[in-house]
Amino acid sequence: MVDLEALEAEARASLAEAGDEAGLDSWRVEWLGRRGRLTAVLRGVRDLPAEERPLIGAGANRLKGELEDAVTARRAELLAAASDGPALDVTLPGRRPPMGSLHPITLTRRMMERTFRDMGFDVVEGPDVELEEYNFDRLRIPAGHPARDMWDTMWVADDGSGGPRQLLRTHTSPMQIRYLERRQPPIRVIVPGTCYRYEATDATHEWMLTQIEGLVIDEDLSFAHLKGTLEAFVRRVFGAEIETRFRCDYFPFVEPGAELGVRWQGDWLEVLGCGMVHPEIIEDAGLDPDRFTGFAFGMGVERVAMLRYGVRDIRHFYRNDIRFLSEFDQFRGSA
Ligand code: DAH
Repeated sequence: MVDLEALEAEARASLAEAGDEAGLDSWRVEWLGRRGRLTAVLRGVRDLPAEERPLIGAGANRLKGELEDAVTARRAELLAAASDGPALDVTLPGRRPPMGSLHPITLTRRMMERTFRDMGFDVVEGPDVELEEYNFDRLRIPAGHPARDMWDTMWVADDGSGGPRQLLRTHTSPMQIRYLERRQPPIRVIVPGTCYRYEATDATHEWMLTQIEGLVIDEDLSFAHLKGTLEAFVRRVFGAEIETRFRCDYFPFVEPGAELGVRWQGDWLEVLGCGMVHPEIIEDAGLDPDRFTGFAFGMGVERVAMLRYGVRDIRHFYRNDIRFLSEFDQFRGSA
């Protein structure tokens, strides 16, 4: 006698295993197809003894209907699971989170710092809010000196306490004085930092800029050391073939003073100011100017970054436009 209950249990268990359309198809072939197992039972009914025929026949027919319903339900179940989202494919590559990158000025500043470090310079920083005395007076730029006009200064509002006047430093040169207060020669230091100038902005001027100041003091230093050091620096930054020129320039804290230009796409571009540290500044630091000499220089990081990356307008650097900044993702890790 055919055990319809066992047959049903087996059919349902194997249907539950079917995980996709192909699985449903082969299940149907196995159970309900022309040579299917339930079909075989139905066909065999007529060969059964007469008293078993009605019972088995009716039971097998009912089971056939139920299994048809079951396969329909199973299909709906699989479809619903599929629309919950694709199955987890662990072989797909991971999605990178957006990482951002260093700001082009940071990249350039680090490259310049590294170049000086390789030449034996220390790197220190100084205050952005500076005393008038350091920013001007002790650099030989007293009140009323025409050189003060070289920097349109942003002053810190007077708090009425009668304390010394403060300003946002217009250059990194005040750190020459601060460093000389604390250190003895030999001195070889650079000072990167932000400076502020109250001026109208255009493609080559910003009210905020980054400078790198340099100071070298030792015995028997000459202008040749200044030239050699700065030319070595410029060749590292712009390439060994770069053409350079020194021209006379005036800065109250050096004597003689000069500017260094490089030839860039046919034009001469000023990249830094420099000179031999004024003997009065050496003397004010408590050193004997007949024994100690040295040189100083100051340069803009934005200018170098513009040349290096072909940026035509300095104002791009501080607009925080992600389209501009993400151009520098390619330099990630190259600082
Ligand atoms: N501080 C000057 C400026 O902001 C640049 C400069 C010129 C720095 C000559 C120096 C120097 O140390 O020797 O324009």
